[in-house]
Amino acid sequence: MKKRVGILTSGGDCPGLNATIRGAAKALYQRMGDKVEIVGIMNGYDGLIRGNYRAMDPHEFNGILTVGGTILGTKRTPFKKMTVIEDDKVDKVAAMKKTYKDAKLDCLLCLGGNGTHKTANLLSQEGLNIIGLPKTIDNDIYGTDVTFGFHTAVDIATDVIDRIHTTAGSHSRVMCIEIMGNKAGWLTLYSGIAGGADIILLPEHPYDIKKVVKVVEARAKAGKNFSIVAVAEGALSTDEAKMKRKEWTARRAEAGYTTATARIAKEIEAMTGAETRTCVPGHMQRGGSPSAYDRVLATQFGTYAAKLVAEEHYGVTVAMVQRSVTANLLADIAGKARPVPDDCPMLNVARSMGIGLG
Ligand code: F6P
Repeated sequence: MKKRVGILTSGGDCPGLNATIRGAAKALYQRMGDKVEIVGIMNGYDGLIRGNYRAMDPHEFNGILTVGGTILGTKRTPFKKMTVIEDDKVDKVAAMKKTYKDAKLDCLLCLGGNGTHKTANLLSQEGLNIIGLPKTIDNDIYGTDVTFGFHTAVDIATDVIDRIHTTAGSHSRVMCIEIMGNKAGWLTLYSGIAGGADIILLPEHPYDIKKVVKVVEARAKAGKNFSIVAVAEGALSTDEAKMKRKEWTARRAEAGYTTATARIAKEIEAMTGAETRTCVPGHMQRGGSPSAYDRVLATQFGTYAAKLVAEEHYGVTVAMVQRSVTANLLADIAGKARPVPDDCPMLNVARSMGIGLG
């Protein structure tokens, strides 16, 4: 009897998804030869709900180590809607269990971020054999020190900051760069430090615009003709942090900007007279080939998942803990966040460098 292993990628994509799929597939073939068959579920949980899957040929896993995105396609299928019957009257959990059964799966690998892991845990509790793999450029999955995709995004965002430096210097401007990360600021913190940003603003630590301006003015006084502000997408001012999301969204709309970055740039210009510009690299941070670091990490994670399959060790997700690859129980990590903590050593590194944290 062949073991049938399903694989899906869910949520936002990132570099390293294909490298992880490849790592798992090649290690499975290595261990089990023709005793294993891999079934690709298309477009994440959406494919599991709709029965959109197909048996994969081993050659499909060749040549994908360096390829960005995901060969299986992905989609955001929010966890909070999984147990809600919507207009289409589909019972999503029942549909996913049916597809698992119809496809004769022995287990299912779910590659994704926090939302993906919540649904993975739900399916595990429903009796399916699930193994998670932690992906996200946000690096905010509980229980793992690092997720694949993060370091490639750090490299890309750092390159953006490097390039912005030269144009900022030429024009004597304050440049505000919006880095991805709505709830977690890891990407902004790491790329900000790597790119030599002068101010780093994170969602976890509301900023006071007066403190931001103070850094810009101090730099101008010291003869520096430009400043670089790395702003996480989800950064909030101290005032906004006291409000409900609806309220600060409405206030921003009223003032004519939607993002913290646009607001910060306008405020710096008004308070200092310096010319400001914003830069939003957006989804570029999730695109293209994974870095060497992420290729190695993805291969480590993928091969570990193959070992878990061989041992029939389910209901877990792969993790890196103190430089060792291990597995955490899905039930222990699902629904938990991993924001940048107040005592994060990298925050102290930034402070020691005189980087403003708002
Ligand atoms: O979770 C990864 C991420 O890139 C976040 O940093 C960002 O806020 C979000 O996804 C963007 O999502 P979407 O691609 O659905 O616009």
